[in-house]
Amino acid sequence: MTLRVGVLTGGGDAPGLNAAICGLARRLLAAGTTLVGFTDGWRGIIGDRTRDLGDADFQRLLVWGGTLLGSSGDNPYRKPERDVPKVLATFARHRLDVLVTIGGEGTLGAADRLWREQQLPVVGVPKTIDNDLSATDFTFGFFSAVEVATRAMDDLRSTAESHGRVMVVECMGRHAGWITAYAGVAAGAEAVLVPERPVQIADLCTNLARLRTAGRNSAIVAVAEGARLFDGERCLSSMEKDEFGCYRTGGVAEQIARLIQERLGWEARHLVLGHLQRAGKPIAFDRIFALRLGARAARLVLEKKFGYMAAMRAGEIVDVPLQEAVTARKTLTDQFLDRYESFFLPISSP
Ligand code: F6P
Repeated sequence: MTLRVGVLTGGGDAPGLNAAICGLARRLLAAGTTLVGFTDGWRGIIGDRTRDLGDADFQRLLVWGGTLLGSSGDNPYRKPERDVPKVLATFARHRLDVLVTIGGEGTLGAADRLWREQQLPVVGVPKTIDNDLSATDFTFGFFSAVEVATRAMDDLRSTAESHGRVMVVECMGRHAGWITAYAGVAAGAEAVLVPERPVQIADLCTNLARLRTAGRNSAIVAVAEGARLFDGERCLSSMEKDEFGCYRTGGVAEQIARLIQERLGWEARHLVLGHLQRAGKPIAFDRIFALRLGARAARLVLEKKFGYMAAMRAGEIVDVPLQEAVTARKTLTDQFLDRYESFFLPISSP
């Protein structure tokens, strides 16, 4: 009997999702498997909404950003009494043997629980531009996002210099500063502010003032949307949460630009890179990386190695238990922060 495999992509999209589907589908279809695509993440399997993948031209699709299956932040564990039975029913209705879930912490966390608590056979593929998943060195989409942010900072240099301004550039990353750190360091930003290192606005202003005194007429400040900014004891960052319990971030760059201008009299502007970091085609590295992860997930399916996900470790594609990926969030390490010490402001104790 041929294997029947469901697949969904959940959470915020990331460049490389289509390549991952391609890597998965090509290997599975070659093995004679039937593939059922669910639309819009967990919402698709909860509501039994499918997309036929039979006619998909995977080879062409792998170039494109986004996901041909659609995505959402929905999750069966938001309302488990109602939605977990629906997931199990759809799985049974389609006579599936396994469900492949491509996603980040939320998507893979739900897959892990369904496997451990309901014995639903699942296989995972990690993705997130935030690169904050444990058990894998990197996630696809991350380097594409870093590229967008680095280029933006590079390009902003000329206008910053022309006008003698500070440009404050806000990158995505609510809990982890990976994009901001990589892009900020790569672009030679004068200050890099990440959630892992709370910062005093006074320290930032002191450092910028020092630069100005030394003759610099402009500067780039890279800031993660989740950076925690303090004015003495007072936290200036938003602590408001959205309907899914995540910090409602945004606005930190604007706030910093205003404070720099007020306190230093140095003209400052801000730019929020926002969803541009998730948009567009994946860079070549992410295409190949995602293809490899998708193909490895297909192997897990064919070997019936459930409860695992494909991951990258020391440049190799390996299998790791899903649980390892979702138990702790991977934030910037002290080693990374120390290595690029001069980019980050000293840790302040508010
Ligand atoms: O987790 C990926 C991510 O892009 C975060 O960096 C960002 O904070 C969030 O998603 C944005 O989510 P939404 O697309 O719901 O605005």
